[in-house]
Amino acid sequence: MSGLLSGLFDSVLDASVVFSFGRSGFRRHARRFDPGDLEVDLSGKTAFVTGANSGIGKAAARSLARLGARVVLLCRDEARGRDALGELRRETGNRRLELVRLDVSDLGDVRRVAASLAGEPVDVLVHNAGVLPDRRVTTPDGLELTLATNLVGPFLLTGLLVPALERAGGRVVHVSSGGMYTQRLDVDGLFRGGPDPFDGVVQYARTKRALVVLNELLAERLSAGVVTFSAMHPGWADTPAVRTSLPRFHALAKGILRSPDEGADTVVWLAASRAAGRPSGLFWFDRAPAATTPLPGTLERAEERGRLWEALVGAAGLDPAAKGPRGAARGRKRRTRGS
Ligand SMILES: NC(=O)c1ccc[n+]([C@@H]2O[C@H](COP(=O)([O-])OP(=O)(O)OC[C@H]3O[C@@H](n4cnc5c(N)ncnc54)[C@H](OP(=O)(O)O)[C@@H]3O)[C@@H](O)[C@H]2O)c1
Repeated sequence: MSGLLSGLFDSVLDASVVFSFGRSGFRRHARRFDPGDLEVDLSGKTAFVTGANSGIGKAAARSLARLGARVVLLCRDEARGRDALGELRRETGNRRLELVRLDVSDLGDVRRVAASLAGEPVDVLVHNAGVLPDRRVTTPDGLELTLATNLVGPFLLTGLLVPALERAGGRVVHVSSGGMYTQRLDVDGLFRGGPDPFDGVVQYARTKRALVVLNELLAERLSAGVVTFSAMHPGWADTPAVRTSLPRFHALAKGILRSPDEGADTVVWLAASRAAGRPSGLFWFDRAPAATTPLPGTLERAEERGRLWEALVGAAGLDPAAKGPRGAARGRKRRTRGS
């Protein structure tokens, strides 16, 4: 096939979504990957991966450990974390795998863990943990659970680790979702507790849209290019989250889903490859920059982006871009609210 024809064919398949987000899309896109990109030695580097006991996070942690990095698994459940730690140590032979307990949705927990990591080099921080609950749950901090896990917790963790990231010239990778394409940034909707009546799929997609915008804002506002911020989406991978949160989708699509390793490939590439992640602030899919607003009506106004930053600063009690006292974390009073 001529280059022009095969390019046209690729565009048609990519527009189909199914043949792009699924396994066949990964394999087609992988033909243009440079295998040399991941011939790197990460033995001097430390990588932190949230939600590393399962699915894409575990696959990314395994690959980073195989490349020699010291990998810290940030997991909310001690027992599941320990199981993953043992398995990954056995599989990779890397003894520099560690486990730290962290519930990303709990802002007090994020502060506790960030304080304990204050002196560490943070070469890589992968915000992988994510949830898609089917009902509204409110965290003790008064935030809807999807928002707390997928957006506010990661924002606070990054904010508190900025000095450590800057010391290392680090990379931050935000794991978003192709589902974000369906939603325009809606700050009020996000922070009001999600759609009413609650729709977990819409709230999830809104948090993932906001994560992509946050990635751009972090690149614009923080660290003057010293830290590289990237967002990506993994396509559709067969993981526990898809099986339990989207059972009907899983039943229909299971034959075409990517493996967790295929879903994690761009995370690992962004975290490890010399070629990856520049310029900072981009959205990636299968090792290539991806459009963020291909669907009509999904481009946000500049003012809405500013409102996202303000809302996150308010919810997290931290402005990582502020110099002086505003940049310091304020202890937020914990509240308990019914869900
Ligand atoms: N699979 C896909 O097709 C797909 C598509 C688009 C985007 N993604 C994104 O990829 C990421 C990984 O998902 P996955 O598909 O690999 O699902 P998964 O296997 O269920 O992994 C999700 C991970 O997040 C952890 N987690 C959830 N809430 C947490 C919290 N509050 N604190 C710390 N960790 C928490 C889970 O821990 P537990 O095991 O303790 O629950 C688990 O380790 C998510 O951000 C998801 O939105 C996945």
